[in-house]
Amino acid sequence: MKYDISLTVNGDTYNLAVEAWQTLNEVLREDLNLTGTKLGCGSGDCGACTVIVDGKSVSSCLTLAVEMDGRQILTVEGLAPSGETLHPIQEAFIEKGAIQCGFCTPGMELSALNLLETNPRPNDTQIRSAISGNLCRCTGYNKIVDAIAEAGRRMKPQSKARR
Ligand code: FES
Ligand code: FES
Repeated sequence: MKYDISLTVNGDTYNLAVEAWQTLNEVLREDLNLTGTKLGCGSGDCGACTVIVDGKSVSSCLTLAVEMDGRQILTVEGLAPSGETLHPIQEAFIEKGAIQCGFCTPGMELSALNLLETNPRPNDTQIRSAISGNLCRCTGYNKIVDAIAEAGRRMKPQSKARR
């Protein structure tokens, strides 16, 4: 049996029929072709699947799509909706060398956004705490922490992504 839901992703509203067992991650990646959101562990441990739902970061692999009816979702694609101008967080990640394989990057950047929108000048401890649910096997984290701090210095209210 399928359930009709309506959800808004990066400002666009979609009406979908989903199975009760389908995750938000599956719907984003397979139904909406928004493959920027990654699937890593599938069990809530790695943060690769992080998206923002109604202003809070969630693991899309553990979130049922049917529960997303009426919700506002931001994925990494929504950070740079035009595809031309990058979000300050994305610019800082590139400039600070905080991306290697890139698999963790979408989730990291959304966790960073979630932090910076409430605390634009976080210290290292606060940054590390905010990304504690996001695993990176490449960078050793220091460059990611530097990038998030730099992004906080650059972000202005008008530079925020659509929520
Ligand atoms: S894929 Fe969701 S937390 Fe790892
Ligand atoms: S850049 Fe490869 S996992 Fe983080």
